[in-house]
Formats: sequence, structure tokens, C-alpha cells
Amino acid sequence: MTSIPTAMSGRTPYLERIESGAVETMTVDERLVAITDPQGAAAEQYRMLLHRLRYARSLRGNATDPGAGGVVIAVTSSVRGEGVSLTTANLALTAARSGARVALVDCDLRRGSTAALFGMGARAGLAEVLAGKNEIGEALGNYHEGKLAIVPAGKSPAESAALLASPRFAQTLSLLRQLFDEIYLDVPPALATADAAVVVHRADGVVLVVRADETPREQVASAVRSLDGAPLWGMVLNGVDPSRVPPPLPVVRGQLGSGR
Ligand SMILES: Nc1ncnc2c1ncn2[C@@H]1O[C@H](COP(=O)(O)OP(=O)(O)O)[C@@H](O)[C@H]1O
Ligand SMILES: [Mg+2]
Repeated sequence: MTSIPTAMSGRTPYLERIESGAVETMTVDERLVAITDPQGAAAEQYRMLLHRLRYARSLRGNATDPGAGGVVIAVTSSVRGEGVSLTTANLALTAARSGARVALVDCDLRRGSTAALFGMGARAGLAEVLAGKNEIGEALGNYHEGKLAIVPAGKSPAESAALLASPRFAQTLSLLRQLFDEIYLDVPPALATADAAVVVHRADGVVLVVRADETPREQVASAVRSLDGAPLWGMVLNGVDPSRVPPPLPVVRGQLGSGR
């Protein structure tokens, strides 16, 4: 279990150096603390979460066959508003910063928020890929090594659960497993829709986000039951009072003295 403290809000310009050496300015949501405040307490908690998930994976080995490629981790909650989208985006960013090849896929086809968090313009997303209108490569945009690859949700379709249950979704995940080391899925809430039930069974591991001081215990239990045997790797207690989170280790700035 990892606890994530309250994050900040607003938008912040973020400069990113791309492979050619050119600098691209993105305006990302300030709550993406993995890039906007990487030394802060919240970013540290996302790093802890990442390493716990990697450890959980190492204990289990590769759940699917070893040639299957990258690991797929689904992040969900019991109801909306518990922090799935922020958690998934920050977790994927943290993983990408660690050097792994990482994709973030917004599977919340009804109310995807990943595109808005990253300030991405209108672009084909998972909905268009599953409907057969676009290839996954088009939805990935101009991905390059060392940068987080993002598949936004796309235009909200009429039948999201049917699309997610289609063989095309399974094929898309297989393809992403070949291209990336870690694939993080932003999944709609487990108790509100059929969508989550479909997606979690395609993942190697599931993370359940629980809102601190808000989500009732019984609701968490119902959400766990609704996963129906999907592999729950852990829970995130989100939005805890920062005063209740131990501070990260102090960062040593500058050079260490010689001791004289
Ligand atoms: N750790 C956090 N600290 C402060 N606010 C948060 C945190 N996590 C989520 N929120 C807020 O809660 C709301 C829902 O978050 P979001 O990630 O969109 O949830 P979900 O995807 O589960 O519906 C947003 O307004 C978001 O800013
Ligand atoms: Mg969301």
C-alpha cells in the first residue's frame, strides 16, 4: 500500500528536450508532479509505488508466457474521483523517467482525462483504434525513445464495454507489449461500469486507488470482489494529509565536502 499526499493544481509549462536536440514546450497539468515537482513528497511516493509494483512483478515472474513482452498494469478504483487518472499518469511518467520504455493508455473511453492532463490536442485515441478507424501507431503520435508514449481515450463511443471486450483490444495490448517494457492502463471505476471488469482481466497486475478519508471500507471490499479474481497487486491510499506522510530523505545539493 502506498499513500499519495495532496497534490498541487494549475498548469505549468514544461520544456522537453527531444532527440534532435530541439526543445518542445508542453503545457502540462501541474498535478503531474512527477515532472512538475520531481523532488516533492508526492513525486517520491509515486517512485515508491513504482518500485513496489516492480517488486510485486519480480515475485510473480511473468504471469503470461515469457515471450509476451512488456507488463500490463491496470489502475482502477471503486467509484469516480478517487484519483485513478492522476495516479496512473504520474506513475507512468515516473516509470518513463527511470529509463524504461513506457506507454500510458487511457481506457476510460467515456470520460478519459489523460489528453487534458498532458495538454494534448484532439487526436485519435483508443476508441478510434478499437473501432478500426485508426492504427495504434497513429494513436501513439510521434513517440520517441526516452519519452512517455500516450494513447488518449479518443472520442467517446456509444458502447465502450463492447469495444474493450473486442479481440482488437487484446491485439492492441499484445502489440504494445512488444513495443514497451511497461504499459499502464487508466481504467474506469470498477463499481460503476462493466468496462473495468473487461479490462482488468487483460492485465498482469491491478492497482486499486482508494481515496483517503472518503472511500468507505465496504465500498473498497465491493470493488475488490468485483475484480473477480483479477490479480490485485496492491492498493494506493490517495490524497492523504501531507502531515501524515513521512518526508522523503533530504536531497543533498551541490558537492560533498572533503571533510576537512
Ligand atoms: N493526490 C491527490 N491530491 C489532491 N487531489 C487529488 C489527488 N488525486 C486526485 N485528486 C483530485 O481528485 C479529482 C479526481 O482525480 P482523477 O485522477 O481525475 O480521478 P479519477 O480518474 O479516479 O476519476 C481531481 O480533481 C484531482 O485533482
Ligand atoms: Mg479518470
